[in-house]
This record gives sequence, C-alpha cells and structure tokens, in this order.
Amino acid sequence: MKNIVILISGGGSNMKSIAKRAQKGQWLERHHTQIALVLSNDPQAGGLAWAQNQGLKTQVLDHKGFLQEPEPRRAFEEALIQTLEPHAPDLIVLAGFMRILGPHFVGHYAGKMMNIHPSLLPAFTGLHTHKRAIEAGVKFAGASVHWVSEVLDAGRIIDQAVVPVLPSDTEHSLAARVLTQEHLLYPRVIENWIKNTL
Ligand code: GRF
Repeated sequence: MKNIVILISGGGSNMKSIAKRAQKGQWLERHHTQIALVLSNDPQAGGLAWAQNQGLKTQVLDHKGFLQEPEPRRAFEEALIQTLEPHAPDLIVLAGFMRILGPHFVGHYAGKMMNIHPSLLPAFTGLHTHKRAIEAGVKFAGASVHWVSEVLDAGRIIDQAVVPVLPSDTEHSLAARVLTQEHLLYPRVIENWIKNTL
C-alpha cells in the first residue's frame, strides 16, 4: 500500500481536488494507493470537516502549541514527524500549507515531499505572487508543483500550468484563474507519481 499524506492550513481546495481524483481514478483499487491522512496546523481549517465527511482520516497539530518551546519551529517539526510516521507516508503533499518547513523536517522527507506554488517558478517565490506578477507586467502566470528542498520554493520543478494575464486582471481574478489550473495540475502530477513509482 502506498500512503499519501496531505498537509493543509485552510480551505484545502487543492486537497479536495486531489481527494476527488483519488476517488475517480480509483487509486486504492487500481494502484493500492490511499490518502492516509489529511493534517492541518490550524484547527479552524475548513478542509478538515470536508475531509472527515469524505471518510478521510484527519488530524490537527497546532503550531501555536509549541510557542513556549525553546525552539518552537524545531519542536513543531519533530512533533509533526512523530504524528506522520505512524501513517508510513510514501509521499507528503503540501496543499496550501502555510508553515515554512525547516531543514529538520525537509531533510527527514527529502525527495518525498511536493508543494504547489501559485507562480511560474523560479519567478515570484514567496508570498503575494499574483499581485507581484501584475505589478511586474508579466503576460503569463500560473502554478508550479515542485519537490520541496531546504530553499523555499526552489526545489526541482515537476510540472507547471500557464494562464494568460489579462489587462483587466486584479490579483483576485488572476488568483482564481490560476487556482482553477492548480486543481487540474496537482492531481495529475500525483497520479503520474503513483503510476511511475509502482
Ligand atoms: C493556493 O494558491 C496554493 O497555490 C497555495 O495556497 C493557496 C490555497 O490553496 N499553496 P488551498 O485552497 O488551501 O489548497
């Protein structure tokens, strides 16, 4: 059995698209692959209730619970590893997970962790990508799925989706156009990973 763990922080629209593809693509039946856990660092994440309703295992590990630790980030990441290990993850999918993961966690899951970033990397790493793209006057934008490395948004790119930037675009209209493509890109990348690692 191959186990995929998905990490979210909010609405989890990418997680939902992946879970729907897992159902439609019969990942369990045809590829012995399951979404073993949906975990959020935010107990209020809307994606948790949706995942539970789909019958997926969910868990919360609130990063705010580690703020009193001498090294809060490291303590959170160690707890995250201890939380994930029982699910024997073969692939960690960051899907709108808004915590920066440091070398301890990234090193532990080196080569097994993907992220989706809402820009055509290596352009516009970091935050507010759509606003920055419009301000820069780019004619195309999009999303990138990449392996996670110790440098933020800089791991090897797996695949990308491109959308036009229209003169009338606001960061919100561009974000919506990119998100629609994210929901096609991420499930496709993961399904290709499943088929190529069996
Ligand atoms: C998306 O733009 C994604 O690219 C970024 O987080 C945003 C929200 O993702 N990583 P989701 O709706 O929580 O999946």
